[in-house]
Amino acid sequence: MSDKPWGGAFEQPTDQLLEQFSESVSFDHRLSAYDVRGSIAHARMLAAVGVLTESERDEIVTGLSDIAAEIAAGKFEFRAALEDVHMNIERTLVERIGDAGRKLHTGRSRNDQVSTDFRLWIRDQIDHIDALLANLQRAFVHRTSLDESVIVPGYTHLQRAQPVLAAHYWLAYCEKLKRDRQRLTDCRRRVNQLPLGTAAMAGTTIPIDRQMVADELGFEGVVANSLDSSSDRDFALEFAYVLTQIALHLSGWAEEWILWCTTEFNFLKLPDAFCTGSSIMPQKKNPDGLELIRGKTARVVGNLQSLITLTKGLPMAYNRDLQEDKERVFDSADTVAACLELAAPMVAGAELQCESISSGIDSGYLDATTLMEYLISVGVPQRTAHELIGNLVATAMKKDCRLADLPIEEFQAAHASLDESVYEVLGVDRAVAAFRSTASTNPQMVAEQVELWKKKLQAEN
Ligand code: ARG
Repeated sequence: MSDKPWGGAFEQPTDQLLEQFSESVSFDHRLSAYDVRGSIAHARMLAAVGVLTESERDEIVTGLSDIAAEIAAGKFEFRAALEDVHMNIERTLVERIGDAGRKLHTGRSRNDQVSTDFRLWIRDQIDHIDALLANLQRAFVHRTSLDESVIVPGYTHLQRAQPVLAAHYWLAYCEKLKRDRQRLTDCRRRVNQLPLGTAAMAGTTIPIDRQMVADELGFEGVVANSLDSSSDRDFALEFAYVLTQIALHLSGWAEEWILWCTTEFNFLKLPDAFCTGSSIMPQKKNPDGLELIRGKTARVVGNLQSLITLTKGLPMAYNRDLQEDKERVFDSADTVAACLELAAPMVAGAELQCESISSGIDSGYLDATTLMEYLISVGVPQRTAHELIGNLVATAMKKDCRLADLPIEEFQAAHASLDESVYEVLGVDRAVAAFRSTASTNPQMVAEQVELWKKKLQAEN
């Protein structure tokens, strides 16, 4: 090939400044293995439709396989002057095998090539992140056995609200992660459509067989409009959003556990192996891992914001702006994967501080709502019951005692239909047992949910 990288129409070589400014191989080399797979599938198809001879195809396949092996072994030299991963691999192939290699780019362009490579990469990442999410769910389900029948205060506004089983807490995270996994599965369907063969933006006059390439690469279908797929990265944005939602879930969990690990809460102890010390205060054991999971969420959110801004107002079809998408998505996937990897052993290894939790569980009138509902069940309108129990709470606060410690006279003075049986719903154990609605913290229901989760995750293994 000539040293004019863009061929005959150019009268000057590319300026050094533009070359450095526009190269992407420094980061898109991560797509190498996918680029080679896509090219091999493309070459096989070109041979099948008669564009390549069988021997040309074999030369290409062997040449590309050698290049892939060198890249995997770290022995391949990427050249920034060749701009991106696609040109690096193709040019090297041409340098090695000559004319057969010069035929590889028939019926395609880098525009459909980059979209194909990126989709293949994202598809694998989706499967990887999904497995990490399943692993974290397993850690939470494992906790339900460790903390069986432990009751913790539940909060709204970070004020004590109602008592819940610790297992109910852990399964709440399993549910959040379940929806994240559903989002990944759903996103995967749209990622998994083959753009290759849509070429630059209008398609090609070469009689290619796109379905054959899709089948070989495991795509569920082929994109239907060349302009659409050349111009869009919505599949990448969708993946970046799902990653953001995962990061947000992890961040909420991390924040909660940071609080729970404080002396003030003293609900939870992290294993020493997952704490860090202070360079000046010898007594400190800090939850830096949790803080970083919370902190790294910022970059995942920022990456999504960048991608949204990047694709805003782009006319059809391909624009070079789109090259800026890769690093943002790579970073979000790497960051979320690292957070998930760290989260699982922390979840499995932490210890609930059961004594500390239970010694404070009677503070905060966690059973007041259950008592109110008890009053409703004997026919008192909710608004009236709310008011009456509020008064009883005020009385107990003045006496600095629990509701369960009030004498029966106080209850009867509050409402004539309250008798000794009120004590059956007072105290956190009884309050928890009194829940009835599906999805509540009722112990029987929680136990059933735990079983369902165990079976579900086991079946996946
Ligand atoms: N490196 C480019 C990207 O990531 C590949 C496509 C370049 N296409 C072009 N016509 N300049 O988007």
